[in-house]
Amino acid sequence: MLLAFLALPVALATHAFLTTGLGARPINDLIHRTGYWALVFLLVSLAVTPLARVGRFNGLIDGRRMIGVGAFVYAATHILLYTADQMFDLWKVASEIVLRLYLTIGFIALLGLIALAVTSTDAMVRGLGSRRWQRLHQLIYGIVLLALIHFFQQTKADVWVPTFAAGLFVWLMGYRLLMRWRKGAPSALALLALAVITSALVFAGEAVGIGLYYGVSPLLVLQSTFEFDLDLIRPGWLVLGAGLCVVILQIVQSWRAKSTGAKVKPAPQRAMRVEEVA
Ligand code: HEM
Repeated sequence: MLLAFLALPVALATHAFLTTGLGARPINDLIHRTGYWALVFLLVSLAVTPLARVGRFNGLIDGRRMIGVGAFVYAATHILLYTADQMFDLWKVASEIVLRLYLTIGFIALLGLIALAVTSTDAMVRGLGSRRWQRLHQLIYGIVLLALIHFFQQTKADVWVPTFAAGLFVWLMGYRLLMRWRKGAPSALALLALAVITSALVFAGEAVGIGLYYGVSPLLVLQSTFEFDLDLIRPGWLVLGAGLCVVILQIVQSWRAKSTGAKVKPAPQRAMRVEEVA
């Protein structure tokens, strides 16, 4: 099941190749696809902890390391394709990485991912010890941040997708802050506040970004936020929707636990197993 999920981008690319084709520049299309999916899997790996805790889908935790390795494989293919696009001229690739900031940032993110992938084997976990391993793997937060900056920088005009991805990242980090602050699983009310604050940040960030780019007042941009256009729902609304889904999940699970008389298991404060961290 997990392997099928990780192979989904390959299936989608194959389908596109066999039907519509991959466009005038197939390698460039594949560079975009692999970069996009590397980021998606990074975000999914960060989403495992909240989903496992709120939804009590504890089995999810076991798949997290594999999702992270999947993200690394797509990121490595991404740079390999970029190198192929540069006719395997390694000198050119290296100088581009040094000269173009968005490539420098992507490359630093990739180096971080390599460090995490290399230390993802059971032997490495044992060798490093649980605490050091956990600390090292907290690098993932910085890596995703760099990957998002790389995404924003290379997007020329419409930043809808990067903005939505950034909103999800803010929510995922906010959830972790809440866990630390409350020393346990956040309540439905805290999750509601998180959803509202995150979407407000996304609306504000988007308005400031568009305002600066087009030289218009961010307040004018904010006004259009409330004009509902089904063809272009603002990312902030979707982030709010995603956050509210988590709130509903939390309420349903607490209600189920109460109605079955089962004791709600408190969220572990410390990792029981290495997979349960981050
Ligand atoms: C963790 C590492 C990385 C991640 C997660 C990542 C992610 C992404 C994403 C999400 C995109 C945009 C995809 C889209 O348009 O849908 C992208 C584009 C791109 N990335 Fe990366 N990237 C990473 C590292 C790198 C590295 C190391 C290089 C090359 C040195 C690179 C070169 C590019 C190029 C050339 C594009 C397309 C730019 C364009 O067509 O203008 N990326 N990447």
